[in-house]
Amino acid sequence: MANKVEQATHMVGGAGETSYATNSRTQEKAINRTRPILETAIAEMYGTLLPERMVVVDLGCSSGPNTFLVVSEVLGIVGDLCRRLEQKPPEIQFFLNDLPGNDFNNVFRSLERYEKKMEEEKGDLLAPHYVVGVPGSFYGRLFPCNTVHFFHSNFCLMWLSQVPQGLESEHGVPLNKGNIYIAENSPPKVVKAYQEQHRRDFSTFLKSRYVELSIGGGMVLTFLGRRNKHPANGELSYLHGLLAEALKAMVSQGIISEDKVVTFNLPIYGASIQEVTAVIHDEGLFDLEQAQTFEYNWDPFDDTDDDSVFDNVLSGRNVAKCIRAVYESLIAHHFGDAILDELFSRYAEKVARHLLKEKTKYTVLAIALKKKA
Ligand SMILES: C[S@@+](CC[C@H](N)C(=O)[O-])C[C@H]1O[C@@H](n2cnc3c(N)ncnc32)[C@H](O)[C@@H]1O
Repeated sequence: MANKVEQATHMVGGAGETSYATNSRTQEKAINRTRPILETAIAEMYGTLLPERMVVVDLGCSSGPNTFLVVSEVLGIVGDLCRRLEQKPPEIQFFLNDLPGNDFNNVFRSLERYEKKMEEEKGDLLAPHYVVGVPGSFYGRLFPCNTVHFFHSNFCLMWLSQVPQGLESEHGVPLNKGNIYIAENSPPKVVKAYQEQHRRDFSTFLKSRYVELSIGGGMVLTFLGRRNKHPANGELSYLHGLLAEALKAMVSQGIISEDKVVTFNLPIYGASIQEVTAVIHDEGLFDLEQAQTFEYNWDPFDDTDDDSVFDNVLSGRNVAKCIRAVYESLIAHHFGDAILDELFSRYAEKVARHLLKEKTKYTVLAIALKKKA
């Protein structure tokens, strides 16, 4: 398993049936739902600084409609603000960041189409803007000091910078056998290794953004988390537990080797709001202006609030497509790409069965932070 995330991670590129672009409706819903948080945070920053030129960064932009939805939301918010304040709109420099394996070609090939659409919708009210790609990990510095006015990131900060170290005993025996994430039977040492990796990564993230932000600058960060106190009771444990079961079923039929499964752990962590706020507090670099928790059905096309599932088989397939668009590169890197179709078809069945028992939801945390003076 590649230790560093940037070596093996990218969402499925292009715009085909299995691409991230086609399978990112949950993430799109989160962008729409957090618009009021973004509006307040941008208004606060803009009202304080009234910049003539504004630098906005989307961290973990991926490739697909959501990349441009963020650009268009920010342009809309700034345009509305300027009209209300009777100010000339600033020139906006957008930096779209992701890991080097991201399909930046697809982003820049689609840019012209989205620009035309925005011009048709907004006409003269569209603020002048320029879009640039920035490959690199957000767990480190990406920009010069004091140059960024606003950071945005949607559905990225649950990714760790690497699979945590310490998932093996002193003698090299894997400790999280049978699991690919924190599960109910994961030893405390495994849980601690994940928690510490998250704490280190989030703290590096905050330190880097603090240096890069101008005084008065801010950020809105939305990411998968959990409601429960113990990480093994998080919804991500169930979601990943079902993927581990599908892998193990393939081991028992001799399709993949047990060794491969035993050494596979996901570089993901669903934090609780308490864990997140503890790091923010300990670093002391940002004021927490807003914090909200949302829930979304696992099936991205199920927008209902009740506990019943309309068609569990269809929902299982929808969930499997989304998860595949996100994890395909990691799984192919470790197991080879020959297992993908079979694995995700088994996973879809397992999710379908799980949804009959319980309509589990994702927990999403959204926070707005302002750089301390
Ligand atoms: C689930 S996608 C979300 C994409 C997009 N923001 C959206 O809302 O649809 C997560 C993205 O975070 C990126 N990512 C993960 N770790 C990263 C890191 N350390 N630095 C930069 N990007 C990262 C992944 O490559 C992926 O494109």
